[in-house]
Amino acid sequence: MKIISVQNSKGGVGKTTIAINIAKCLSKEGKVILYDADPQRTAYDWYCIKKDKAFDVVPIDNPKTLETETKKDEFNYIIIDNPPAMSQFFITSLKLADCLVIPVASSAFDIWGLSSLVDMVNMINKDFDVLFVHNKIIRNAKMNGEIKEALESIEIKKDIKIMDVAFRQSYLKSAMNGITVFDTEDGPAKAEIEFIANKIRG
Ligand SMILES: Nc1ncnc2c1ncn2[C@@H]1O[C@H](COP(=O)(O)OP(=O)(O)OP(=O)(O)O)[C@@H](O)[C@H]1O
Ligand SMILES: [Mg+2]
Repeated sequence: MKIISVQNSKGGVGKTTIAINIAKCLSKEGKVILYDADPQRTAYDWYCIKKDKAFDVVPIDNPKTLETETKKDEFNYIIIDNPPAMSQFFITSLKLADCLVIPVASSAFDIWGLSSLVDMVNMINKDFDVLFVHNKIIRNAKMNGEIKEALESIEIKKDIKIMDVAFRQSYLKSAMNGITVFDTEDGPAKAEIEFIANKIRG
C-alpha cells in the first residue's frame, strides 16, 4: 500500500486536478481511494457527477480519522487531496505520505510560497519521494526554464523529481463533466499523468 499526499498551501495550483487524474490512472492496476480533506469538497463534488466507479472519493473532516482510515490495508493506493492551508491536515498528511505530490504553478509567488512546506518536509524524519508537478505550463514559454531552475534549487532533504503538466482544456473540460483525461482523446494529457503515476509506482 502506498499513501500519496497531494498538497500545497497555495490555492488553485491544481491539487484536485492532479489528484483525481492520478487516482484514475493508478486505478487501472489496483484498488484506489481518494480522501477529500478539503472543506471546499471539490473532489467530492466531482465524484458526485463522476461517470464511472473506478475509485471512490470519500470526504474526511478530521485528521485523526485520516490517520485511522489510512491504516486499513484494503487499498493499493490511498490519495489525499489536501486543503489550501497550513492546517493540521497538512502536517498529518506529510507524516502519513510515502510520496508527496506538490503541484506548483508557473510564478515566482508560487515558488516563494513553498518555503514553509519545504521547512516542514525537512523536519519530518522519514524517507519519502517528493514530486514537484510544474502545472499549467504554457508550452514554449521562456519562463518555464526559470521556474524549473528555481524548483531544482530548493533545498529539500528528500529525493525530488520535477514533472511538467501543460495547461490543457481537457483538464478543465473533464473536471466539469465528472470524468478524467483518460476518458478523453487527449493523448499528451494522458501521457503526462502516466509519467507522474510511473514515478509514484517507483
Ligand atoms: N493543467 C491544467 N490545465 C488547465 N486547467 C487546469 C490545469 N490544472 C488545473 N486546472 C484548473 O485550474 C483550476 C484550479 O485547479 P484545482 O481546483 O485542481 O486546484 P487546487 O489546488 O485543488 O485548488 P484549491 O486550492 O482551491 O483546492 C481549476 O479550474 C482546474 O480545472
Ligand atoms: Mg482542491
